[in-house]
Amino acid sequence: MALTTDPVALNQWYAVASLPVSPHVTRLLGQEIEISAGANGPVVRRSDTGAVLATRQKWGLVFATFGTPATELFDIAEAHESDRRFVPCGWVTMRASGLRVVENFLDMAHFPFVHTDILGSEPHTEVPRYDSEIRRDVDEVWATNCTFFQTRIAATESAGDFVRLTYRVPTPFTVMLYRVCPSAPDRLDAIALFIQPMEEALCRAIPLMWLVDDRSAQTELLRFEQVIFLQDRIIVENQRPLCLPLEPRRETPTRADSSSIAYRRWLKEKGLRFGTTGAA
Ligand SMILES: [Fe+2]
Repeated sequence: MALTTDPVALNQWYAVASLPVSPHVTRLLGQEIEISAGANGPVVRRSDTGAVLATRQKWGLVFATFGTPATELFDIAEAHESDRRFVPCGWVTMRASGLRVVENFLDMAHFPFVHTDILGSEPHTEVPRYDSEIRRDVDEVWATNCTFFQTRIAATESAGDFVRLTYRVPTPFTVMLYRVCPSAPDRLDAIALFIQPMEEALCRAIPLMWLVDDRSAQTELLRFEQVIFLQDRIIVENQRPLCLPLEPRRETPTRADSSSIAYRRWLKEKGLRFGTTGAA
């Protein structure tokens, strides 16, 4: 497959490597790229033409673009708070559209069935009503006032409770979760998932967490996150079609899907085609 011609996909920043980089070959939007450590920082080139891509370094990651994004990378306020634990998790490759991965991340209804006895359990399967919106001033999708009964809400906790969650989609291939911190109820843990769309139906993703948690061991935090993402991988890889349909009536929505509906509407308004069933 060759580089996509979709201008909406081309004009975005994508996480493509963790710092420090080691020389390797990977893919972005259908195109092979080479990552190397240059004298003035990481260099990302197209393998076919050798053209150098614009890059940024943020949050311990290298971001690259083939185009000219209208804005710089968004901000994560929690990343500036010096008392937080910064937990970069590992990359997970998934044979699905990155858009499917974002949509799955937004979905609370799967918690009891996919993350059984961790993020949910039967009979607590109802998703209480929450609010979804496209925020025009910042051009992001948000879902607020979300609550869900979780069996084990964070690595620090062993008992179940209703968690309060907020979801944010800052770019089509990035999604965030803010969770009221169990050990500091006036603060929010921030978890961001950065997706590198390699092909229409192949991506890899890396979760970064900024936690208020001075108790858990790093390995414990990583294991908690890893278990959850490996469970999610099974789900997204088994959805059909692998690309995300944007047409309203392809899949029947329920009330729990309001964030997904807002996300799909936002993508459709942007005219994004890469990773959707409308790509061809
Ligand atoms: Fe999940």
